[in-house]
Amino acid sequence: MKTQSYKIAVLPGDGIGPEVVKESLKVLETVTRIYGTSFEFFPASIGAKAIYETGNPLPDETLEICKDAHAILFGAIGDPSFDNNPEAKVRPEQGLLKLREALGLFANIRPIKSYETLSEISPLKKEIFAGTDMVIYRELISGIYFGEKKTSEDGTEAYDICSYTKSEIEKIAQLAFQAAEKRRKKVTLVDKANVLETSRLWRRTCQEIAKQYPGVHMDFLFVDNAAMQLILNPKKFDVILTENMFGDIISDEGSVIGGSIGLLPSASIGEKNALFEPIHGSYPQAKGKNTANPIASILSTAMMLDYLGEKKTAHHITLAVEEALNNGVVSEDLNKNKNFSTSFIGDYICKELLQEIYCRDNENVKIGKSTII
Ligand code: IPM
Ligand code: MN
Repeated sequence: MKTQSYKIAVLPGDGIGPEVVKESLKVLETVTRIYGTSFEFFPASIGAKAIYETGNPLPDETLEICKDAHAILFGAIGDPSFDNNPEAKVRPEQGLLKLREALGLFANIRPIKSYETLSEISPLKKEIFAGTDMVIYRELISGIYFGEKKTSEDGTEAYDICSYTKSEIEKIAQLAFQAAEKRRKKVTLVDKANVLETSRLWRRTCQEIAKQYPGVHMDFLFVDNAAMQLILNPKKFDVILTENMFGDIISDEGSVIGGSIGLLPSASIGEKNALFEPIHGSYPQAKGKNTANPIASILSTAMMLDYLGEKKTAHHITLAVEEALNNGVVSEDLNKNKNFSTSFIGDYICKELLQEIYCRDNENVKIGKSTII
């Protein structure tokens, strides 16, 4: 039994966030049951919920809880009452952006892979996407998201400045190259260097960094071309390195490859803190219906455990998720005709997890045949 107890800040947020995070917590409770790894959970509010409660999308108390935690588990953010009101002075999304900035979460890591078992439901042809395995390294706390922004007094003009420093680029580029070294040894920088000064700085900086990694091949794609290649030939990508807004856009595009955005996890890493969240939004239409896909949140939890050094546990969670997918235990985004509720899928994954572990430790018992539960 391990004695380490991890402090986890739990920020369910808006829309379907609380429902999917609840399933992640179930998984962590199962992890405790199996391995004895202990977690202390510190719930805190953010986004629209926090605005309604305190007027502030990122209350100070939430920030303190996050700073103090070993890791942050985040649900989703956004609320239609703010989306449809361009006059709103505070917005739920500001909570997440401030949190990323305050904690220095500069690297957003978004793995995208295709699941053989979901090949029928993907809008892409099987021969195009089968075997896709890539990871996007998106810079998260600079660029156009965080540059100076303004709307003129009369409301007829506005700007958002996109600016990058060499050191901001270097930090994320180092991580992307390190990741590539452990993978298929290829980094693709996605930029718009034929038009943007910032992109030319990205290219120069990354070309210098590439020299430190002679075993890694680097290539370059303009973002418009990358958007096309991602759908035409996703298999050719290994590590994609890109700036904040391009990364936001191409990661949603990439989610089509896996079959649903409801499958995609992410990690946002800083020097001291790290936050784990699905890449999907708050999906307000499904709020409270117990129909949302909990897998992105559960896989984000696996990424969190991996980050905390619990690598075996993290791997077992991904295996349990694959079992659910292989056995058709999926939500309505993945199968319109035969689907299961959010909580059922969470329970199923926990059950699989218990069986997987049992089987691994008892080689005579075949996977799926155990009667431990
Ligand atoms: C994401 C989201 C956020 C972003 C929003 C909610 C601010 O779309 O994490 O991809 O644009 O970064
Ligand atoms: Mn996004």
